[in-house]
Amino acid sequence: MRDLFDNIENTDSDQSSLHNPDSKRAEELILSLRQELNQHNYNYYVLSKPIISDFEFDKKLKELEKLEAAHPEFFDPNSPTQRVGSDINTTFTQVKHEYPMLSLSNTYSEGEVTDFYERTRRSLNTVFELVCELKYDGSSISLIYENGILARAITRGDGEKGDDVTSNIKTIRSIPLRLHGDDFPEKFEIRGEILMPWNVFEELNKEREELEEPLFANPRNAAAGTLKMQNSAEVAKRKLDGYFYYLLGENLPSDLHSENLNYARKWGFKVSDAVKVCNTTDEVFKFLRYWEIERKNLPVATDGVVIKVNSTIQQRNLGFTAKSPRWAIAYKFQAEQAVTRLNSVTYQVGRTGAVTPVANLDPVQLSGTTVRRASLHNADIIESLDLHIGDRVFVEKGGEIIPKITGVDKDARILMGEKVNFIANCPECNTPLVRVEGEAAHYCPNENACPPQIKGKIEHFVSRKAMNIDGLGTETVNLLYQNDLLKNIADIYMLKIDDISGLERLGEKSAQNIIDGVEKSKSIPFERVLFALGIRFVGETVAKKLASHFKTIENLEKATFEELTSVDEIGSRIAESVVNYFSDNQNIELVNKLKSHGLKLSVSEEMMLPKGDALNGKTIVISGTFNKHSRDEYKKMIEQYGGKNSGSISGKTSFILAGENMGPEKLKKAEKLGIRLLNEEQFLELIMGANL
Ligand code: IVH
Repeated sequence: MRDLFDNIENTDSDQSSLHNPDSKRAEELILSLRQELNQHNYNYYVLSKPIISDFEFDKKLKELEKLEAAHPEFFDPNSPTQRVGSDINTTFTQVKHEYPMLSLSNTYSEGEVTDFYERTRRSLNTVFELVCELKYDGSSISLIYENGILARAITRGDGEKGDDVTSNIKTIRSIPLRLHGDDFPEKFEIRGEILMPWNVFEELNKEREELEEPLFANPRNAAAGTLKMQNSAEVAKRKLDGYFYYLLGENLPSDLHSENLNYARKWGFKVSDAVKVCNTTDEVFKFLRYWEIERKNLPVATDGVVIKVNSTIQQRNLGFTAKSPRWAIAYKFQAEQAVTRLNSVTYQVGRTGAVTPVANLDPVQLSGTTVRRASLHNADIIESLDLHIGDRVFVEKGGEIIPKITGVDKDARILMGEKVNFIANCPECNTPLVRVEGEAAHYCPNENACPPQIKGKIEHFVSRKAMNIDGLGTETVNLLYQNDLLKNIADIYMLKIDDISGLERLGEKSAQNIIDGVEKSKSIPFERVLFALGIRFVGETVAKKLASHFKTIENLEKATFEELTSVDEIGSRIAESVVNYFSDNQNIELVNKLKSHGLKLSVSEEMMLPKGDALNGKTIVISGTFNKHSRDEYKKMIEQYGGKNSGSISGKTSFILAGENMGPEKLKKAEKLGIRLLNEEQFLELIMGANL
């Protein structure tokens, strides 16, 4: 492989490579790697049965990337390397659907299902089969395949026309860009649902919470929002999935819907196994009752069962109403809901000034917990609910983590209370609120004088993942703030033991504890100080990236928007926020004060050493003894190359850096889980090689 690259790099012109015999070899290699990687993607993302490790997969992908870069003449937009998306912002073009995307009529009881069955029997006047499937709760999508290649992906839109989101869809690894086999129609459409798995959704919201960004209410909104992102490289990071359930076209392989689904599965689509052909309503009810419970164990959200007539000929005979097919209905699972009284709406101001409206309710039991408060998310949601104080409101937990208000029982309004209008001024400091164009949240702009923002910033600064100052919890910060001892983060370094120990609840010992913690924090590395500053959108990972790229706070202060966005993974939103932060003189003064107190505002010598990203996303376990470097040095190297150290072997381990005398227990476990061992030399080659 290596001599092939050498050869490529030595050719002076593109022309020569066309006639170069190595070019033929490269093409063959590229094609076979693509095929192999497609198969591994399918094994992993569709079948959930990978046969090689992530590490091996990444290695092959990198190999293919290198070859493709050296041979642009073999570019293929459907290569597995294109799954990472592009950084170029796109706006979507609207495309008319060849077949309109209709909805389904909803039913909520077994009685209504029987009605559907009887209606269908009368219309068809002959025997018929039904197919039960889960109703996936995501964002619907229509994919068009031409000659086995994904040609276009269109959102539902208004049902008549939708947005062309092909570049975003291509980043979803369970969606085949090229179909398996050769028995697919020349052109056909397949419809399905784009979903964000629960674990990805929870992770995303956790991240957003840390950054004080508005949370997504449920995975459906998160998936829909992600599909509409203009930067496909960002979409690639969101780990969406796609389940498919409906084929359309002239020459489908079978006249039975259930058979067509089997074909789709064979061509490489993720089609749920929860598909059951039923001949009686009793069989249908069995399916409904089973999945009503079992769906809670699925990795993605479902909100019901879709019941369809199996024969596509019978489907055609039954036809459509204006809005939905007569050959199918949706049976919706019961959302766990309660009715209670809205007593008031209060507003919370976070450390970045984001204002969140909260509904205060009469306590009510819902799915095993007492609900007293529900999030109202933002001004638009309040407006669309047309809320009045005293209203009887419906509260749902559904799949969401925070209970939400889904509606108002308007018939129960005897005396209409005061209408809830989103506040215009900050509830804490009375500054007029602002709303950034395109964002749902309102912010209080009075960053440096609004009490919850000041206290929030201090609490964030001293928190464990930031400066980790012991003894300064919420209550103590509040106490010191009330006593005028803390008005900003730099004041922390002016605290004197006598000032503190005199305060109520704070004895000499706690005071000393705080002073020691403050002193110790001066050795916290630059990247954590940067995170501690609490610049909006600069979380732990972003702070690390910025610190390692700019090296000193002075460089970062001077960085322009363009310089910032040129850094890997720094988008325009983060760049704008950083520029904004340092354009405020008060912030510059604050940073200068921190500098004068001796905080680390540049990376250490050791961090200045060359490094790379060869181990990005890898979790590595070190075991045994080494000759070339010490264990601690290897640990540092792993971090400097973007990897994570871990003490124990698990399914998450990417590989083991194995020295001599590795423990037999560890060896056995690694073998059992199929985890690769790298020796010192191989490890060094991996990180150095990637740095060339
Ligand atoms: S079949 C003519 N099957 O539910 C409509 N739809 O409310 C044929 N959905 O637009 C759709 N799971 O977005 C079908 N197994 C499933 C489904 C499903 C979810 C969605 C789809 C549809 C909506 C109807």
